[in-house]
Order: sequence, then structure tokens, then C-alpha cells
Amino acid sequence: MPRIYHKHTNSGTEVVEQLKVMDYLSHHRHQDRRLVQTKTNNRQLAEPNDHLHLSARPRNRHTAHNHTNVHPNAHEHTDHGSSCTIPSCKKLLNEMEVIMRQKYVLVTGGAGYIGSHTVLELLQTGYKIVVMDNLSNSNLEALRRVEILAGRPVHFFKGDITSTADLERVFSQYAFWAVIHFAAIKAVGESAQIPLDYYHNNVTGSLNLMRVMNQFKVKNLVFSSSATVYGEPEIVPVNETARLGPVTNPYGRTKLFVEEMVRDLCKSDPEWNVCLLRFFNPVGAHVSGMIGEHPQGIPNNLLPYVIQVLQGRLPHVCIYGDDYDTPDGTGVRDYIHVSDLATGHVAALRKLEKRPGCVAYNLGTGTGYSVKQIVNAMEKATKKKIPYKVVDRRPGDVATCTADASLANRELGWSPIRSMDEMCQDMWRWTHLNPQGYDGPLKATAAAVAGDHKSS
Ligand code: UD1
Repeated sequence: MPRIYHKHTNSGTEVVEQLKVMDYLSHHRHQDRRLVQTKTNNRQLAEPNDHLHLSARPRNRHTAHNHTNVHPNAHEHTDHGSSCTIPSCKKLLNEMEVIMRQKYVLVTGGAGYIGSHTVLELLQTGYKIVVMDNLSNSNLEALRRVEILAGRPVHFFKGDITSTADLERVFSQYAFWAVIHFAAIKAVGESAQIPLDYYHNNVTGSLNLMRVMNQFKVKNLVFSSSATVYGEPEIVPVNETARLGPVTNPYGRTKLFVEEMVRDLCKSDPEWNVCLLRFFNPVGAHVSGMIGEHPQGIPNNLLPYVIQVLQGRLPHVCIYGDDYDTPDGTGVRDYIHVSDLATGHVAALRKLEKRPGCVAYNLGTGTGYSVKQIVNAMEKATKKKIPYKVVDRRPGDVATCTADASLANRELGWSPIRSMDEMCQDMWRWTHLNPQGYDGPLKATAAAVAGDHKSS
């Protein structure tokens, strides 16, 4: 059964939760247990299933400062240790030193929808991950399931990017070589009602993060930006050289402002490397049905809304206008499978290893679907009728927004591979197996499906 290791730190207020769901490879278990024993000497001995305390070790700041920009897999071969025989003290110390040098990627907001899918992909690629999340719009259960799917541990730190103290604490505990920054609030309508909260969370939070990264000399960043920075694009598909803004809502402006901060930072200090990833419309769920989107309250975005209509929780879909200059009059968007977005992040991390400076990439498919086409696609995937009503346009919506993602294809070697049918089917599988999202029980069939997808 899944277990969580709660570690109360000196502050007494913060809880570091060491997720450890899977039985790790027995080889690792054996070795880590040995090391924990040695490290802690006569102090508390880790139980075999709670063994990964090494990851939460205090970090030597002076040593860590000298190890920036190391290839993330540079020490990967040391994960398994060199031998399983009982080592001499010297050898054990050497092994510990190697482990101390191992580098992690920090994923802020990694327990959220896009974050959890990305963490899974990163683990499956071999990266070592620490997630920092305040759990305000995310769920620890997502990370437990990610561990099951990946067969590898996730290190979890409950913390808020608006707190410099939280950031300093996590940077003191781990040696990072890069950060993937998802943590943000993202409801467009709400952002117009409580703009200061949006600027505080998204802009001040990002500013804090970059300052602490600077302080710890961790200067590799992947930032979750959005197609919203283009405002109403003059030409579609839009490419990265297009004019930015004007953006019609505070949420969108927070993304644009952070992009501007990043550009200024990179100009001021050539050691910084940042990939700005401009997401188009993320949809879908992991093919296993184990993880997916769990919106709180009534969803704002189209697909989650359609799902709740299919579940009978909402009476019908409201189509916001059918008088746009598009083939059927409804808004056209570039929907991208969340697992393709996740592979885009792996590609962006690899790009950072080449020290590119500040670069922006569109992550989309290049293909547009109208609202009516989406409703039809979901009807096909679910074999259910979806009632809808056409209502007034939603303020701030644009007619068409699709990506020219050729730069990401060329420079990141990345392309999305999942079709609209797969996006709809995967979303429906997740819904079917988890009708209450992460709040309900995981259906037994999902666990069986997970077995099939563990190492996919
Ligand atoms: C929205 C945000 C964007 C944000 C993105 C995150 C706005 C104006 N834009 O993008 O800043 O980055 O979400 O995912 O809110 N639609 C309906 N009925 C609905 C919901 C949506 O007809 O109940 C239509 C919209 O008019 C649009 C399309 O569906 O044409 C997609 O809407 P949505 O899923 O909200 O995404 P965006 O508006 O593209």
C-alpha cells in the first residue's frame, strides 16, 4: 500500500513528504538501507519502504555552488552503485560522495495537471525529480500514481513560490541543475476579479524563484508560458516571432510579464538559459487512465466542461458564439495532448544542456479544431450525445489560435504524436476510471491498465 513519510523540519511548520509508493528495486533498497544506516549511525534506521532519506539530506551549499550546469545524466550510472558487496568505510564514503553530487530537477507545481504528466515523463526518461507544490489546485494522489506508473520515487516538498523561505529551504536540501516552473494560478475570468492575487502568485512567485535560483547559482529554467501571450494573433498559425500582446486579461499578462523578466535576466547574465514554452490548449490524460485533469468547481476550459456534461453534472455545453470568421462560426484552437506537452519538456531540458540563452517555443500541433468539431469528437469517443446551446461570445476570446510549432520540431527535435481521437479517448478513460477525479477511489481496472503502461 502507498505510504507517505512525513518529516517535520526544524522550522516545525513545514512538512516534507517523502513519497514512496513503489517497492523500489531491491538492489536500490539494499544499498540505500546500507547508506542510511551508515549516515545516521545509531540514529533512527530507515524501514525498507521508507528508505529514500538520502534525497532529503542537507545540502552542502559550498560544494553545490560549484556544480552548476552539469549534464543531468552525468551521474546516472552511479544510481546503481558500483557493487553490492559490503564495502569498506572508504568505499562507502566514496559512494556517499557520489550520491551527494547527484543532481535533481525541481518541478514547481508538479502535482498539477500538466506538472504530474511531465514528472512522469521525466522519471521515465531517467531524471531525478523534486516536486514543490502548495497543493492549492493539485493533488498528492497524482504523484503517488506517477510513482506507480514510473516505478521510481518522487521527492515532494510542500511549499509556496511566494515564500522565499520555502524556496531557500528546498534549494538548501537538494542540489538542482534545472527548474521547470509550472506553479501558477490560471483561471482567466477569476484573474479579472482578483488581479492582485494573480500578479502576486504568478509574477512575484516567479520573481522569487528566479532570485533564489540566482542565489544558489542554478541558472537553467523551463518556464510554462502560454499562447495567450500572442493576444489575437495577426497571422495563424502563429510563430514565435509574432508580436506579443496586447493581452486581454490579467492572467495572460502575468505570463507575458514573466517572459519579459526572463528576457531581461538573460540579457543581464549570459549564464542563464531559459526555454519559454508557450502552451496552446492542453487536453487529454495519460493513456493508463491513472492521472488526468481534476478541475475544481465548474471548469472554464472547453474539454473539462464537456466532460462534466457527459457525466450529467452540467446540463449542456454553452458554445460561446457561432458567428466567428471560422468554417463553422465557432472558435478554433490548437489542442495538444498533455503527454505530448510532457515530452516537450524533456526536449526543452535537453536543449538547456546546450546552453541556448533565452529561447521561446510554441508547443502545439499546428492543427485547429472548432468547438463544434470538439463536441463531435467527444461524441465519437464516448458514443454519447452531448447537448449544447449556442450563447453569446465570451469576452476576450479570439476566433482562431493555432501554433506554428516548426521551431520546436527543428530545434528541440520534438513533435506531438497523439491524435484528437486519442486526446478524447484518453480523457474519457480517465473520467470513466476516476469519476470523482482524485477524490474517489482508483478503480481496480485502472491499476491493471497501469501495469500495462508502467514503462511505456
Ligand atoms: C483559455 C484562456 C487562455 C489559457 C487557456 C488555458 C481565455 C480567453 N483564454 O484559452 O488564456 O491559457 O485557457 O487552457 O479564457 N468554449 C466554449 N464553451 C466553453 C468553454 C470554451 O464554447 O464552455 C470555447 C471558447 O470560446 C474557445 C474554445 O472553446 O473558442 C476553447 O476555450 P478554452 O478551453 O477556454 O481555451 P482558450 O480560450 O483557448
